[in-house]
Amino acid sequence: MAPVQINPSILSADFVNLERDLQAIATADHVHVDVMDQHFVPNLTLGLPVVRRIAEVSPVPLDVHLMIEDADRWAPQYAEAGAASVTFHAEATQAPVRLARELRAGGVRACVALRPATPVEPFLDLLAEVDMVLVMTVEPGFGGQSFIEGTLPKIRRTRQAITAAGLPTWIQVDGGVTRDTVARIARAGANVFVAGSAVYGADDVAAEIATLRRLAEA
Ligand code: DX5
Ligand code: ZN
Repeated sequence: MAPVQINPSILSADFVNLERDLQAIATADHVHVDVMDQHFVPNLTLGLPVVRRIAEVSPVPLDVHLMIEDADRWAPQYAEAGAASVTFHAEATQAPVRLARELRAGGVRACVALRPATPVEPFLDLLAEVDMVLVMTVEPGFGGQSFIEGTLPKIRRTRQAITAAGLPTWIQVDGGVTRDTVARIARAGANVFVAGSAVYGADDVAAEIATLRRLAEA
């Protein structure tokens, strides 16, 4: 089974004290960086210059989640900006195989994301071309939403397909990951957990990361 990883999302951090909030998650596996363009999702966050600067100061590698249109054009630039992993949405690319290959050739992990309503079946052939599948467990755009229970069968189906193909592909979940949901999401087959409000809303951020990890590994 792929290793459990906890990736806090800086969407719930204090953007005016970002360096402090990055240092606070030094025990996490990656920092999850949500890039939104106000077109693919109805929210706007940050872009290449900020990602470059985060990469310079972050104590952990960057897991960049692109919620932007025209991923084919922009995603490779986030690899160059210092990301360890670049996630593009299946709904926002014309040529997912070509993009995944380009990202991998650039030395980063390539990941494809699926909105809650996007089925995994049309993308099963893509599993061998990516390092991770992100199953969105809320509608992308905002932190602090409730986990959509109906995404659990898709996580199970994705894990089955990966296992059947003998692939090392990770499954990431993003949205509504909390102490209450993390264990059953793990049992469905996910191994990489993004958590924004759960981590940054906690009194003790490091303790919350440890708690989520322990619950996911149980
Ligand atoms: C939502 C973002 C998430 C968000 C998750 O579109 O992709 O990464 O920060 O927030 P929580 O963990 O609060 O649901
Ligand atoms: Zn995200």
